[in-house]
Amino acid sequence: MFTLTLVARKGGSGKTTLAVHLALAAYLRGRRTLLADADPQRSATEALSARQALGPERVALVGARLYGAQMEAVRRGTEVMVIDTAAGVTEDNAAAIVLADLCVLVVRPTYLDLAAAIESVAMIRRLKKPVLLVVSQAPHTRDGVEPPAMRRALRALAVLGQPIAPTVIRSRLIYQTALETGRSAEEADQPAAAREIAELWAYIHHQVFPRDAADTMLSASVSQCRAY
Ligand SMILES: Nc1ncnc2c1ncn2[C@@H]1O[C@H](COP(=O)(O)OP(=O)(O)O)[C@@H](O)[C@H]1O
Ligand SMILES: [Mg+2]
Repeated sequence: MFTLTLVARKGGSGKTTLAVHLALAAYLRGRRTLLADADPQRSATEALSARQALGPERVALVGARLYGAQMEAVRRGTEVMVIDTAAGVTEDNAAAIVLADLCVLVVRPTYLDLAAAIESVAMIRRLKKPVLLVVSQAPHTRDGVEPPAMRRALRALAVLGQPIAPTVIRSRLIYQTALETGRSAEEADQPAAAREIAELWAYIHHQVFPRDAADTMLSASVSQCRAY
């Protein structure tokens, strides 16, 4: 089982939105998925409970209970566990980070978010966990060019020396409205947002299931050999 923990010291950065979207991305691709909501606000579980269709399993709990939930998930054959956390630097968040195979640090491209990201990265690295920076709620490109604020933010993030997801999540209304009914932007008729989530999931998927990627490459080269 692979555990993804969504973190950010800063509130409002888009952790819950991405936690639900990534859990749904895994689920919609046939993975047995659990969303563990360790934020006392319970926004992630609330969003999923509004869902009409089948979806990921979900559990709301305090950080101290995450380890037990992870063990139970392994026992039940869960393949992907996504943990949503509250903002801040708390013991609960440390517990969620310790259980992660990958921490997804969600950052808006603003000065205050970037400053907070420095501390979040330091905390994750102290706990010896890998981190992936994901820029969220980003302004849109103009004529295919990133606005100056985004270019500055990307330069500042690069200084942290951690991997940055090549897919940027833009500011889009669909990310807000889809969660009202517990859906992913991938399930709404919004190709641009759907593409962002699909690309981000594909990028994470390579780290989550590297064997799958290797198998795909292997079968591609086998069919090339046959064609030869
Ligand atoms: N990519 C996005 N585009 C537009 N609005 C977003 C996006 N991501 C999050 N939001 C909105 O921003 C607010 C905070 O997002 P949320 O996921 O709750 O952040 P956090 O969990 O980090 O506090 C919510 O109102 C949410 O709908
Ligand atoms: Mg949240």
